[in-house]
Amino acid sequence: MSSTADARTPTNSPLPTVFSAISSLASPQQLRRSASLHQRLTRWSSRTQTPALSLVLPTPHPAQQTMIAESARFNVAACGRQIGKTTLGIDRLARAAADGQPTAWFAPTYKYLEQVWRALRLALEPVTTGKSEQQHHLDLRGGGSVDCWSLDDEDAGRGRRYGLIVVDEAAMVRNLEDVWQASLRPTLSVLEGGAWFLSTPKGLNFFHRLYQLGQDALEREWRSWQMPSSASPYIKPAELEAARRAMPERVYAQEFLAQFLEVEGSGVFRGVQAAARLEPIGPQRGHTYTVGCDWARSNDFTVFSVVDASTYEQVAMDRFTQIDFEFQTERLHRWADLYKPRVILAEANALGQPLVERLQQGYGRLYGDSRRALPIQAWWSTNATKAAVVQALSVAIEDGSLSLLDDAVQTGELQAYEVERLPSGMLRYGAPSGQHDDTVMALALAWAAASVETQTTRSSYAFSR
Ligand SMILES: Nc1ncnc2c1ncn2[C@@H]1O[C@H](COP(=O)(O)OP(=O)(O)OP(=O)(O)O)[C@@H](O)[C@H]1O
Ligand SMILES: [Mg+2]
Repeated sequence: MSSTADARTPTNSPLPTVFSAISSLASPQQLRRSASLHQRLTRWSSRTQTPALSLVLPTPHPAQQTMIAESARFNVAACGRQIGKTTLGIDRLARAAADGQPTAWFAPTYKYLEQVWRALRLALEPVTTGKSEQQHHLDLRGGGSVDCWSLDDEDAGRGRRYGLIVVDEAAMVRNLEDVWQASLRPTLSVLEGGAWFLSTPKGLNFFHRLYQLGQDALEREWRSWQMPSSASPYIKPAELEAARRAMPERVYAQEFLAQFLEVEGSGVFRGVQAAARLEPIGPQRGHTYTVGCDWARSNDFTVFSVVDASTYEQVAMDRFTQIDFEFQTERLHRWADLYKPRVILAEANALGQPLVERLQQGYGRLYGDSRRALPIQAWWSTNATKAAVVQALSVAIEDGSLSLLDDAVQTGELQAYEVERLPSGMLRYGAPSGQHDDTVMALALAWAAASVETQTTRSSYAFSR
C-alpha cells in the first residue's frame, strides 16, 4: 500500500490538525482558532492535486512510525488505550483517499463514528468535491473517496470495492470473524486492497486470531504489533501510574499493556473459585456483621449479602424475586434480627430510595409490633461509585482477604462480570448484556461496609479522553 504520502515535508503550521479534531470535539471554527503552534505537523501534498491543496495531519509519533514503516497488506495493531490508534488510522485512510483510492472506515457502533467522521471531513476538506453527511461519504479530487460505516449496520460495506479499509476498535466488533469474511474481505478483492485493524485487546477473540496471523512469518500479507500505552509520547507516566494503582491488575494489563488475557482471566474478578469455599454460618458471639443490599428492578433479584467484618468472611446470602415493598423490608428485618449488623449498605437509586427511607425510619405493621429503624445507609450507584466498590471487592478476592460462600450463582456472576469501555472512553463495570450482577453488587456493598475502617482509600478511576 504505497502512496505519495511518504514524500512529505514537516512544517510548523498554525492550521487545525486532525488530532485536535479527534481529541477536543470542537467545532471547525473553534479548531481553526485554537490550532496549536507547537504541534509538529506534516504537510503532505497528494500527487493528484495542485501544491496549494494540501492536507494537514499530525506527524506520527515513533510507535506509529514503526507500524507504518513495517506495514503489510493486512495490519493488526493491538495497542493500549490512548496510544494513538485512531489517529494512526485516520492518517492511513486520509492519505490513501487523497491518493485516489476508494477507502472506508468501520467502527463497532454508530457512536464510535462521529468524531472520526468529523476528523476525516476536516482533514480532507481541501480535496473534497462532494459530501453526503447522511451517508458519511466523501468524494475527493483525484477519484478517491471515503465511506464511514457502523458495523451494527448489517449491510456495512456490502457490494463496495475499496483500496484501503480501517476497522477501529476491532476487538469490540460483534462477530468480527463473520463480518471480516463475509462483508469486509470481499470489498478488497478487486482492488487488492489493504486493511488496518486497530484495537485494544479483549480476551482471546477473533481479533487475537488476526493478531496471531500477523506474528506468523509464513503469513506474508499480515503484520501485527502489540504496544503498551506508554509507547505514546503524549501520555504522561503519572497518568498511567494513577490508572495502574486504581484498577484491578488484569484490567490495567488489558487496557494499558495491551495484553491478550485468557477469557477466564479477562473479567474483573480473579481467584473467585479459590475464595468461594464457605458454607453459610449463623451469627457468632462477639463478631460484627455488615449487610449489602441490591434491590430488584423489573426482572432481576433482590440480594442481601452478609459479611462477617471480624473474620472477613461472607456468611449468608439471600436472593429472591418478590419486589413488594412490605415483603422486601420484612425480609431484611429478619436478617437484621439474626445478625444484628453494624451497618447495612443499600443501593438507593430509583426504587431503592423509598425502601431505604422506610427502613431508616421504622414502620408500623398491620400485624405484630412496629419495626424499629435499622442502621441502613443509602448508597447511590454511579459509574464512579460502582467502579470504586467493585475494584475494592476485586482486590480483596484476589489477594485472599475476603472468603466467599460456595454459591454457584454468585461464583458465576463474579466470573462473568466485566469491564466495558464506553465510546466516551469511560470504563463501565457490569454483567455481560442479558446477565445479572445482583449478587456481585450486594457483596461489593457488604464488603465496602465491612472494610471501611481498614481499607486503604481507593479512588475510582475512569480513563477518559
Ligand atoms: N501523532 C500524534 N501527534 C500528536 N498527538 C497524538 C498523536 N497520536 C496520538 N496523539 C494523542 O493521543 C491521544 C489519543 O489518540 P487516539 O484517540 O488516536 O488514541 P486511541 O489509541 O485511539 O485511544 P482510545 O484507546 O481511547 O481509542 C490524542 O488525543 C492525542 O492527544
Ligand atoms: Mg481510538
